[in-house]
Amino acid sequence: MARRGSGTRLTRTVDTGARKAGARSARARPAVAPGPPFRASGAGTAAAAAKLEYVPPDHEPVLAAELVEVLDPQPGETFLDCTFGAGGHARPIAERLGAEGELIAVDRDPEAERRWREFSAAGPCRTRFLRSDFAPALEGLRGEGVRPDGIVFDFGMSSMQVDAWERGFSYAYEAPLDMRMDPDQSLSAAVIVNEWPQERIARVLREFGEERRAGSMAREIVRRRPLATTSDLVAAIKAAVPPADRFGRGHPAKRAFQAIRIAVNGELEAIDRALPLAWTVLAIAGRMGAISFHSLEDRRVKRFFAEHARGCVCPPEIPVCVCGREPDAELLTKRALAPTPDEVERNPRSASAHLRAARKLSDQATNGNGHSGGGQA
Ligand SMILES: C[S@@+](CC[C@H](N)C(=O)[O-])C[C@H]1O[C@@H](n2cnc3c(N)ncnc32)[C@H](O)[C@@H]1O
Repeated sequence: MARRGSGTRLTRTVDTGARKAGARSARARPAVAPGPPFRASGAGTAAAAAKLEYVPPDHEPVLAAELVEVLDPQPGETFLDCTFGAGGHARPIAERLGAEGELIAVDRDPEAERRWREFSAAGPCRTRFLRSDFAPALEGLRGEGVRPDGIVFDFGMSSMQVDAWERGFSYAYEAPLDMRMDPDQSLSAAVIVNEWPQERIARVLREFGEERRAGSMAREIVRRRPLATTSDLVAAIKAAVPPADRFGRGHPAKRAFQAIRIAVNGELEAIDRALPLAWTVLAIAGRMGAISFHSLEDRRVKRFFAEHARGCVCPPEIPVCVCGREPDAELLTKRALAPTPDEVERNPRSASAHLRAARKLSDQATNGNGHSGGGQA
């Protein structure tokens, strides 16, 4: 059930102290991580490492307390977690929803479904899992007439994915070039680096990684084909970075790995399709929250909510409003919320996180005559 007036407006703003602390923590870590947490040693190559038993580290959800506070789940409500992952955000939300509430979990990674079974067995509330990309899951729910009271997005890859070294998300571990969140899709990092034209690879590195050396990295990648492992890719990237540029900007492969991962998983297109669909299914008075980890994600969320929270769109030279446009969103976070320095200290991966949230006021932004005023970003 939708509940008007629930949800809390938070005004704590991006904490630059936290961001600096995060940067410090990240720099303090070794350039190459000490290696995956295996029960046995001897992980020299991907093949050797693959025989070892992987022990997943404890997962700590990012900005979880802030997300729960701002979305304020109430007993008996329905929430949709579009990025279930390891259920780190779903758990505290489900506790608030109680036995009468429902949590619908979505994720395209089968490992998330395994985690959801454990979550479901604990039985904090009614629940179901949709193994799907955002958009088809949201379209299916719209078809069923489901109107959630809360919707959560926590974009990017999960700790579970990055720590599963054999999936190739991390530049710190030797692994096949994979990076697929959905292992059933055919596009992988190997296809991009070995088959895409040089100019297309350069564009990916530039647009999704804001990588200054995109052109020379793409040239080096193409020159070294075929590339088989993450180490081959790291070597190509390092070879394209002049020694003077290798210091002070973190690991030289960080941005390129982010860029290729975004391209493999079509992450930005998925967000662009998901936000308007999610807003459509959200109940009136429902709350939607999104956690982003880089500006390409956050910019989309910020624009989307701002567009819906905007009233009059008359040109400034018109003294009296003639458009009559009413906003259909109220911002619950005036500015993006960032993790506290304590959270960044505990979980350096949270350093770049931003949370934005809004409450839905009506089913459509309207002009004064009740006609649709558009309003989808
Ligand atoms: C940052 S993790 C979420 C972690 C989760 N909130 C937690 O605390 O355990 C993002 C998750 O969203 C999933 N994901 C990313 N893009 C997706 C998409 N377009 N459709 C469905 N799932 C997606 C990933 O597979 C990953 O498990």
